[in-house]
Amino acid sequence: MAKVTFKISELPEDQLKRVEIEGKGVLVARVGKEFYAIGDKCTHMGCSLSEGTLEGTIVTCPCHGSEFDITTGKVVTWVGKYPTIGRLTSFMRRDEPVYKVTLEEDELTISD
Ligand code: FES
Repeated sequence: MAKVTFKISELPEDQLKRVEIEGKGVLVARVGKEFYAIGDKCTHMGCSLSEGTLEGTIVTCPCHGSEFDITTGKVVTWVGKYPTIGRLTSFMRRDEPVYKVTLEEDELTISD
């Protein structure tokens, strides 16, 4: 099991943070007292969701505006209208992977 650990003070309320687990970007969000972690690479065309915006539990991709629920990784709004020839994946609506979040005292551990 790969993991990354950091202090919760590094992630203020209603903010987003990118961490890496074995080279894979993971988006960590703090909503109130809860923490969530999903894939950081937008499943549309790969932009970093940690550079997007968070409203409630919905993160909006900064590139074309697809929206994901950070509690489930599921697509809420899909903006698959910027296809690139030869990159069929950009047509496909795909949810983000969800990572396990464990809070112990003031340390947060994200694992796959
Ligand atoms: S890369 Fe995220 S919506 Fe296009």
